[in-house]
Amino acid sequence: MRITGTGHASMRIDTAAGSILCDPWVNPAYFASWFPFPDNSLLDWETLGDVDYLYVSHLHRDHFDAAHLKRFVSKKATVLLPEFPTSELRDELEELGFKHFLATKTNEVHELDGGLKILVQALTSPTDGPIGDSSLWVEYDGVRLLNQNDARPTDLGFFTELGHVHAHMLQFSGAIWYPMVYELPEAAKRAFGKQKRDRQFDRTWRYIDDLKASHVFPIAGPPCFLDDELWQFNDIFGDEGNIFPDQSVFLQEYAKVGGANGVVLLPGSVAELTADDCVTTHPVPVDEFFANKVAHLEDMRERKKAIIAHEKTTWRHPEIDVLKELQRRVEPLLEESVYLAKGVGGPVRFDLVGYDGESVESIVIDFPGKQVRHYVDEKVRYRFRTERALVEHLLFTGEVDWANSLFLSCRFSAARIGQYNEFVYAFFKCLSEERLQYAEGWYDEHQRTSDAEDIRLGDWNVQRRCPHLKADLTRFGIVDNDVLTCQLHGWRFDLNSGKCLTSVGHQIRASKADQPAPQS
Ligand code: FES
Repeated sequence: MRITGTGHASMRIDTAAGSILCDPWVNPAYFASWFPFPDNSLLDWETLGDVDYLYVSHLHRDHFDAAHLKRFVSKKATVLLPEFPTSELRDELEELGFKHFLATKTNEVHELDGGLKILVQALTSPTDGPIGDSSLWVEYDGVRLLNQNDARPTDLGFFTELGHVHAHMLQFSGAIWYPMVYELPEAAKRAFGKQKRDRQFDRTWRYIDDLKASHVFPIAGPPCFLDDELWQFNDIFGDEGNIFPDQSVFLQEYAKVGGANGVVLLPGSVAELTADDCVTTHPVPVDEFFANKVAHLEDMRERKKAIIAHEKTTWRHPEIDVLKELQRRVEPLLEESVYLAKGVGGPVRFDLVGYDGESVESIVIDFPGKQVRHYVDEKVRYRFRTERALVEHLLFTGEVDWANSLFLSCRFSAARIGQYNEFVYAFFKCLSEERLQYAEGWYDEHQRTSDAEDIRLGDWNVQRRCPHLKADLTRFGIVDNDVLTCQLHGWRFDLNSGKCLTSVGHQIRASKADQPAPQS
């Protein structure tokens, strides 16, 4: 099996029975904030895109690059489609001209021509990617690969049962706006960033340890930020609170926990994988490349300047009355929303900064009042501040997922009183009837599902499944000082009160081990 690195989460897998291109991403994403690093735009995409199969793990724009797919990927390719709850991925690919789809069944092995086997595991909670994320497992001639990319299954045991995996590709770096965009003192931001960076690595070690693959490939990040306004997010300033460590940092940190089987793929690197070995060749020496990271980034910044400048010219739509348009689009959704609206629980304020950089229009999405209106002097738990032009563009394009556009762009700041509230972000991911209905149904179902089993963790009896997304706490739970941390997403719970310390709601059932567990 041959694996060619094509940048970020992208790779091409070649076997004698066919080739699969995964998640090709080249053009900037999220309001021209994210670029793939190292630069992959000079690869021979005509050849790379001439494949038998295409796999797009999910609709995040650093995995689904519509312009690139349209221009470079053969429409003769069969799309290995994850079993997602909505048809958006298929619809978008059809619109780009793809005609052949293999609608996979989650967790089912599909035998393709020539002895190639694949399995796509779909994750479908409203907080998994843009409603849906997935992993691809491939087997050919006794060699197995798991491209986990940025999916977060609760457990990799399912894959180990299919046989020893030889190559494990997974995300290890940040792909979120937290904590950088929060209006916090720098020292606090750095401390939260460091916690986040440590948690990302802990989670990565956990997955690696679960699968015990022969070779581990750090992929799916980090992106680079080439706009001057965002340059500070690149991990080149020796800031331990930066959440975007690169592949060379991965190798150093991995070595500290005893990991010696890491393989970095640059764009154009080729790994020849067998059951016994992995021989990799690179276009340039990997160490040397990362030693010169700042120079590479600066070169890229120059090369991409015109692209960013052009994108910025497309964002303003002065003809749009933002308040009216938000009322038209969002109020019907507020009306329908039960779980998300209740979860948000209060008004959320958007401060929109005008073209002059000074004037501000404050709009409130009032979840209890089910309306969108101007802000009146009132207390809000969540406040976002961004350029009015960005929201105009979201409304102009009919964007249904503001996480997959505005929030991941990091072109905003946020403030909140109290805890993180996942329902806020879940709602702004679901600005369509189809998505909202799905999310409401999912929360309804999970609210009803009782989780009766308890386990022993340290001195505590706690419910086995994490109240967040049901991770098995026998594997992911760690108790320290009466606080349980679930390492899957790093959520923390105070065991004495049962209160979730990371987000509102999500109470955990817990009791001291020498006491009987209370009835829930
Ligand atoms: S499942 Fe997300 S923190 Fe436990």
